[in-house]
Parts: sequence; structure tokens; C-alpha cells
Amino acid sequence: MNIILLGPPGAGKGTQAHRLVTERGMVQLSTGDMLRAARTSGTEMGKQVSAVMDRGDLVTDEIVIGLIAEQMDIHPAGCGFIFDGFPRTLAQADALGGLLESKGQSLDAVIEMKVDDEALVSRITGRFTCSECGAVYHDVTKKPTTDGECDNCGSRGLTRRPDDNEDSLRTRLMNYYRDTSPLIGYYYAKGQLKRIDGLGEIDEVAARVNGALGE
Ligand code: AP5
Repeated sequence: MNIILLGPPGAGKGTQAHRLVTERGMVQLSTGDMLRAARTSGTEMGKQVSAVMDRGDLVTDEIVIGLIAEQMDIHPAGCGFIFDGFPRTLAQADALGGLLESKGQSLDAVIEMKVDDEALVSRITGRFTCSECGAVYHDVTKKPTTDGECDNCGSRGLTRRPDDNEDSLRTRLMNYYRDTSPLIGYYYAKGQLKRIDGLGEIDEVAARVNGALGE
């Protein structure tokens, strides 16, 4: 099963993707995580995208489509991809369709996670992440059991993202409404869109994701 998690910054895409990886053994393909990894390892591309990401602007279609194509080649066919934060433009959506088709695969569902803008601000400004395994936490709604230590892998490398501030978030939201929200109509017209309420406890949202996937 291949799915897209679609929604604005802070909608909970990464949180739900991690759960699907753990519970179903699917493979999460997050372009945000890939770009952050390129920054951390100091590649030429990582340097090129660094300021763009900090501002909250979109990286070029060419770069992110290349990253996704590379990862789809690495993982075995049929493992089940969760596209998290990709596609974000109509050009990326067309490219994804072509990549899946070239591998004889298809898209099973696009889950749009709806969360109002006020909630997004508090989610983003309270977020921190494990730099080892990518587990996502929040100052109020999802604290690690032991302060400063990742529940998942035990690492003490819990960090905050440089783009998780109100200025970048405003830009990210603007980009979402301008460039990414047209994908809602695009996938609706293809009969692949499932809409869920992304507000509520993480487990409640997880149950809605499962419902959208037909379980
Ligand atoms: P990316 O990393 O994709 O960021 P994003 O889309 O802005 O999404 P986030 O990771 O911020 O939010 P999320 O929905 O995953 O929420 P999360 O689960 O963490 O992209 C970063 C940048 O990279 C972009 O700005 C761009 O520059 C570039 N980029 C990436 N992909 C690109 C592409 N395809 N094209 C071009 N450029 C691209 O949850 C957020 C917080 O809320 C957490 O603290 C979590 O614990 C909490 N939370 C989650 N669910 C709930 C809940 N139900 N109730 C309460 N709290 C919750």
C-alpha cells in the first residue's frame, strides 16, 4: 500500500507516519528529513537548501523529486511507501505518478489531515525531535517518559528545528495554501482523497488514519 499524508506544517504527518512504520512496517519517505540529513552531512545540495529551509520556502521540484526517486530505487518493491511532505506542488504530484507507474505501482490513498491554523502554531513552537531516530515530541502533548531522553531509542539528542519559529511558520503556511493545497482538488478529482480531522489526541487521529485506510 502506498499513501500520501497531506497537510500543513504541524498537521501531524510525521507523527502518524512514524506510527505506521512501527505498526505496519511501511517505509516513510519524508523529503523534509532527507533535506535535513543532507544539511547535517554538509553535502553541496545540503548547503544550497539550508537558507531556503530556514526561511520556510520550498526547495526546487528538481531536488526533491530526485531525492524521492533515489529512495524509491533503494527500497524493495511492495514495501509500502508513506510519502510525508511530498508532493507539495502539482509538478511533484505529476512526477510521483510517473515514478509509481514506472515501477508498476499505484497510489492507494491520499490522506488530508485538517488542522486549524491556531493549533498549528502551538504544535510547531512546542515541537522537538530525536536527532538519532526522528521520533517527534511536544512540550505539552507528547513529552518523553524520561526528561531529555528519547523513548524510542534512548538517545539524549533531542533537538528543535531552526524553522520552527513563528516567522518561518507563517511563510510555510503561505506556501502550503498557495502551492500545496491545490493538490487536494487534484487528488479528489482522481478519486484518491480521504479527509480526516487532525485535531484531537494522537491516538484518536491514528484511529481516523486507520479508518481512512479501510480498517
Ligand atoms: P517538512 O519537514 O516536511 O515540514 P512540514 O511539512 O512543515 O511539516 P512538519 O514536519 O513541520 O509537520 P508534521 O505535519 O510532520 O507534524 P509533526 O508530526 O511533526 O519540511 C521542512 C522544509 O523542507 C520545508 O519548509 C521546505 O523548505 C523543505 N521541503 C520539504 N519537503 C519539500 C518538498 N516536497 N518540496 C519542496 N520543499 C520541501 O507534529 C508537529 C507537532 O505536533 C509535534 O510536536 C507533535 O508531537 C505534535 N502533534 C502531532 N499530532 C498531534 C495531535 N494529534 N495532538 C497534539 N499534538 C500533536
